Amino acid sequence: MCGIVGYIGKENPKDILIEGLKKLEYRGYDSSGIALKNNEKVQVIKSTGKIKDLEIKMRNIKVIDSNIGIAHTRWATHGIANETNAHPHTVGKVTIVHNGIIENADKLREKLIKDGIKFNSETDTEVACALINKYYQNDPVEAINKALKEIIGSYAFGIIFEDINDKLYAVRKDSPLIIGVGKEGNYIASDIAAIIKYTEEYILLDDNEVVELSNDKVNVYQGNKLIDKKIEKSNLSIDEASKGSYKHFMLKEIMEEPMVLQRTLNKYLDNMEEIFDVSKYEEIHIVACGSAMYAGMIGRCLLEEKANIKCYVECASEYRYKKVIYDRKTLVILVSQSGETADTIAAMCKANEERIDTLAIVNVKTSTIAREAKHCLFIEAGPEIAVATTKAYLLQAAMFSLIALKAANVKGLEKNYNDVLNEAKNLPKKLKKILDDKEIFMNVAKDIKDCRDAFFIGRGVDYAICEEGSLKLKEVSYIHSDAYQAGELKHGTISLIEEGVPVFAIITDDKIKAKTESNVIEVESRHAKIFTITNDKTIKDHHFRYLVEKISDYFQPILVVPPLQLIGYYTADLRKLDIDKPRNLAKSVTVE
Ligand code: F6R
Repeated sequence: MCGIVGYIGKENPKDILIEGLKKLEYRGYDSSGIALKNNEKVQVIKSTGKIKDLEIKMRNIKVIDSNIGIAHTRWATHGIANETNAHPHTVGKVTIVHNGIIENADKLREKLIKDGIKFNSETDTEVACALINKYYQNDPVEAINKALKEIIGSYAFGIIFEDINDKLYAVRKDSPLIIGVGKEGNYIASDIAAIIKYTEEYILLDDNEVVELSNDKVNVYQGNKLIDKKIEKSNLSIDEASKGSYKHFMLKEIMEEPMVLQRTLNKYLDNMEEIFDVSKYEEIHIVACGSAMYAGMIGRCLLEEKANIKCYVECASEYRYKKVIYDRKTLVILVSQSGETADTIAAMCKANEERIDTLAIVNVKTSTIAREAKHCLFIEAGPEIAVATTKAYLLQAAMFSLIALKAANVKGLEKNYNDVLNEAKNLPKKLKKILDDKEIFMNVAKDIKDCRDAFFIGRGVDYAICEEGSLKLKEVSYIHSDAYQAGELKHGTISLIEEGVPVFAIITDDKIKAKTESNVIEVESRHAKIFTITNDKTIKDHHFRYLVEKISDYFQPILVVPPLQLIGYYTADLRKLDIDKPRNLAKSVTVE
């Protein structure tokens, strides 16, 4: 949600910024804008729609030569998506771009109006801009610090001052922003992917550290005190951040699954001591949003079944506000690809405040959750650009498999520990074979592409898989789809089953397969079209059946989910949709 990129240096920022914005498109946006500054003026250009609309606009006007620039993609929150609300905003001498939400914007606006400020837009960003301008005499760091004292909320700001020709400023709190340190200049960006072409060195800012960038220097202040910061090196390759020959990032990322799984397993399989030991906890709360929560549901099944630990899964937007009773030795596991999901961050803060141990399963190492959780396990998905998660989800599920396996072993509950570890080593190859069957899933997509509704049914871990399969299908293809515990269907939803409605049945769990099969018969006798994915060749093939190899319970979901991801993908492709950026969705949901 919202993307920021900024540059100061010897090059003309225009192309660097536009290219950077394109790399941030995946985050979701509905307008964009750019501010360029030279010694004479600040020029602001904005447009609704896509970045190409901004480019067209820039081609039709005289764009100044400049040495400083900030640019932004906006995902509308305060105020509709129009040019006035698009960033950058200027008040007096200050021009800013902003990612995040200023919670007390209305109160601040009222006060500023009393001071005589006239606002053009409905945005909280313009309020922040006016506040910095109010405090700006000739010390930018002081003005920013004074404004931050009054601002409540989350923010990443890129800031330029009309009368400062050789500096660009930035600050962040609870919203991502990194500082790129380059040879030809310095950068700010919401995500390293936006600037990796120019530099792999970056600095992470802690909350409210104000950074002052010039052509060849980066100064970071805590209050008004200059501090030293470590320069980190990114191992992101330019290839990983681009689509290559694939039609969509989503397809590329699904096809990368064997590789990223291998990379993640290589890191841990021979170093199981690196896997956090959860066996000492009496209760585990897995807290996350969307697909990350569904990966957590797989985790819960494994932790309960295999490691005998009481486990709950909660969606972060509920957990953060509900009364949570921590009456036994509890661990809170946060799961997040981006590490920037606002509700998941809030859930983590809640646990941290209660002094409950937190463990994060995260992909983005520079993220807030990665930095603030007590313990962290990183998946190695690399950049995930498609809004719908695929490879990161799969690795989150795999990480739960490793956590549960380790805990079961520590507790003496797993007799086949070494066999399971050995089996895991072959998992990427088995997964690759399944992805090679892509034609089969394309044909399923042909079969369902015109339907209005679809249902997914399963029990236990199969139900957790159904939730993810259903979400994948609906979010990219816009076909209405729901997942149900197979036994629950007849308590109401079965009334929606009519001739030809696709019902996907996931059947991998031996203990309950006969039960799910009888639920399949119930819907089939109401003329549903049954698509089964199973690891058991004795399960009847009704309309379509795909057999995956039977492997240990720990890793079985890893072979079952990718077919569902491909079915979602191909269905959306046949419906000619904007697969990588489905309507109304953003990649990292940094607001509530
Ligand atoms: C669905 C999807 C979302 C995310 C959710 C959490 O395909 O991508 O449901 O899983 O927004 O995001 P992270 O993992 O970044 O916290």
